This record gives sequence, structure tokens and C-alpha cells, in this order.
Amino acid sequence: MKSPELYLLSRTNRPDSHTLDVFRRHEGYQALERVLKGGFSPQEVIGMVKDSGLRGRGGAGFPTGLKWSFMPDPEKDPRPRYLAVNADESEPGTCKDRVLLEKDPHGLIEGILIACYAMQVKTAYVYVRGEYRLPHDRVAKALAEARAAGWVGENILDSDFSCEICGEETGLMESLEGKRGHPRPKPPFPAGFGLWGQPTTVNNVETLHNVPFIILRGAEWYRSMGTEKSPGNILVGISGHVERPGVYEVPLGTSAQKILEDHAGGVWKGRKLKAWIPGGSSTGFLPGSQIGLSMDHDSLKEAGSMLGTAAMIMLDETACVVRAMQVMARFYDHESCGQCSQCREGTEWLSQIFRRIECGDGRVEDIDLLTSLANGMAPGKTICALADAAAIPTHSVVRHFRAELEAHVEQGRCPYLSNDQPSQATVGAHA
Ligand SMILES: Cc1cc2nc3c(=O)[nH]c(=O)nc-3n(C[C@H](O)[C@H](O)[C@H](O)COP(=O)(O)O)c2cc1C
Ligand code: SF4
Repeated sequence: MKSPELYLLSRTNRPDSHTLDVFRRHEGYQALERVLKGGFSPQEVIGMVKDSGLRGRGGAGFPTGLKWSFMPDPEKDPRPRYLAVNADESEPGTCKDRVLLEKDPHGLIEGILIACYAMQVKTAYVYVRGEYRLPHDRVAKALAEARAAGWVGENILDSDFSCEICGEETGLMESLEGKRGHPRPKPPFPAGFGLWGQPTTVNNVETLHNVPFIILRGAEWYRSMGTEKSPGNILVGISGHVERPGVYEVPLGTSAQKILEDHAGGVWKGRKLKAWIPGGSSTGFLPGSQIGLSMDHDSLKEAGSMLGTAAMIMLDETACVVRAMQVMARFYDHESCGQCSQCREGTEWLSQIFRRIECGDGRVEDIDLLTSLANGMAPGKTICALADAAAIPTHSVVRHFRAELEAHVEQGRCPYLSNDQPSQATVGAHA
């Protein structure tokens, strides 16, 4: 069988892959050259990205070309405009952008430049999370190299196109403006009113990384990989109870089982798979029996889950789903910015209730209380999707693992806790 073509990680295994020299020897900046010297108009670039079917890799899977086309026409709206690059990956399980930032930062810079050309943006900000020291330093160094070589700055390749890229490490739009990083209500949408009230597009690192390959090899080539509605390859970060956790590149539509077995070496210690999460903690738990699902937007949606950031988390038969959910609920409680009462109160209640069930102090009515709280945190009721991101895994635990919740309540203890382990009451105690 023909092995799938890999491109996202094609440079990352080479020594010094983060340097301009190695990047240039492996197709680096050729796509940008083609755009600027080949007479591509901004609309043609957007058209190619639309035709490729590329969908955002930041979690929601929104079509990238369509998003770019929402930016107003600069002839009619001459305000400054921005691209904000989301390199803030922080959802439990998600770790794929880190590989690109550390090992192929010029690939991101080239993607940013092409996106800026297409949307006629002159300033881009890369928002790198504070914990990502090495990725931040690699991007900063690559930017300095690219600027010195004339790939970033004024009149790139003697064209009319000028673009500045700034590395940032504290905050996204609010925090880029120096304020607390609180999500903003929508509308207005960023394309009309984003950074400093100006037209702005927000894109994920991996999304932009795809763009130079689409320009060099064509939309049809891109559509030859993946599925009809989820074309291209994706970076899957697989963690938890597997033999070889890591970040792997696969065509969209690859079965989760194949990824688990062929790439991650199967469930560790030869154990059985009890539960798994397909796309980061906000996509919820699925039972191990559904590991045959295809990793693409439609298949996972049909199964009541989501592709998210393709961050697969695997739990073996000895793991406690309630304990795993307790840890995730604590994360959402901590992350809630507190602007919306459903989220502020809901995430704290979820965290406390999962903790008391796990500790053996739960009541049978707590299980329906979890569902009722999660119902109150549904999309559309809060400013951003964080509340929903806590509600989805809660619903999934009640739906697929109700018996496990009931066993905790009936036995007054965690059935998966062996006698020689410390009490959960003292592990990760909160509030
Ligand atoms: C709670 C929450 C966390 C998010 N975390 C990230 C993240 O870490 N990285 C990211 O690129 N997008 C993240 N997103 C999605 C972004 O808001 C945004 O949609 C994305 O960066 C858009 O890029 P894309 O269209 O290229 O995917 C998150 C969204 C929510 C609601
Ligand atoms: S949903 Fe939560 S994180 Fe998002 S704005 Fe409201 S309170 Fe803040």
C-alpha cells in the first residue's frame, strides 16, 4: 500500500531544521517567491486556499479561505488591519503547534507572509504562550534571520508588499493590547473590529503552516489527501496510556485505531482501551469500543464528538474516568475568566461535584445535577466557548460512563483506587 505523503513534518527531523539555511534548502520561501514574482493577486491566493478546502486547525475547523475573505476590501475600508497568530495552545492534550514552532519556525513565517499578502495586512502578531520558552526563542530568532535576509520588512523581494511580524508572549487580542486576556463578546467579529478596533483575522499556527504547501503544489494536490470535507493532513498529538506518545502527521480521515496502533504502539502494557478523547479535553470522552472512528470533522461529529485539535488522550482499563474528568473540570474552573455567571459558577460547581464523587462523598442526585449544570453552559449563553468546553466532556461522562459514576457513589470510594495509593481527598484538593 502506498504510504501517505507527509509535508507538515517534512523538515522537522533534519538537524538544525529551525535555521534559515536548512529551510531554504528544503523549499523554504519558494511559495512566497511564487506569489510575489508570479503575479498572483491577493484574491487569487484566497481563491486557491478556498479551493484547497483547508480548515482551521485551532479547534473549530472553520474554512480558512472563507475566513480570509471576510476581511473588508482595503479600497473601501482603509483602516490598518492585522493578523493575530494563535500560538497559545493550552487545552489539555494539545501539543502539536509546539513542534512546528520549535522545529520549523520559518514555515510558519512563510505561511504568515502569504496570509498577510492575501488579506493585504502589513502587521502580524504571533502570540506565543508564556510557558513556551524555546518555541518563543526559536520564532524570535527565525524572525531576526528572515528580516536580515529581506523576507520580512519593507518591499519584500523588491515587490510592493511590505510586512512586519512581531513575536508576542503574553495575552490574545485583549492581552496584545495590554489588557487582561478576557474574551470579547461577538458581534462585532474580529474581521470588522479586532485588535485596536481594526479588521483582524485570527489563525492557528498549523493552519498557516499548510498554506505554502498549497501554493507550491496546488489545491488539487491538497484535496487528494484526507476526505472530501476534511482535506489535507493533520498533526495528531497522542498521549496517555500508549506505548509511544507523540505528535504524528496523518491524512485526515485516518482511523483512530490505526493511529493508536501504528504510530503510538498501542495501549501500554498490552492493556485494553477503556476510554479516549479524540481532539483535546473539550471534545469529551468516547468509549474504547469506538476507537474505529475516522479522525475527520464529519465522522466525529456524527459520533457526538469533535475533531478539535486532534489531541487524542487514551485511558486504559485500569484508569478512572471520573478522576480524569475531575482533573479536567479543575482546569476549566481555573481557566474561566469569570465574566459570565454560567461559566464562573458552572465550572466551579462541576469541579467540586466531580471531586466529591471521586472522593466517595457523592450523592446519586449529583449525576443529574452534573447534566443540569452542563445544560446551563450551552453555546450561545456565554461570551466564549470555554463554558461549552467544560460542558461537553461532562455530558460525555454521564452519557458513556454513568455506571462508573454510580459505582463511586454506591461504594463511597473510587473503585479504581488501590489500597496502597493515597486518598484522592488529598490529591489535587481544590477549593
Ligand atoms: C477555550 C478556547 C481555547 C482555544 N484555544 C486555542 C488554542 O490554544 N490555539 C488556537 O489556535 N486556537 C484556540 N482556540 C480557537 C481560537 O479561538 C480561534 O478560533 C483559532 O485560533 C482560529 O484559528 P483557525 O481558524 O486557524 O483554526 C480556542 C478557542 C476556545 C474557545
Ligand atoms: S465563557 Fe467563561 S471564559 Fe468565556 S468569557 Fe465567559 S466567563 Fe470568560
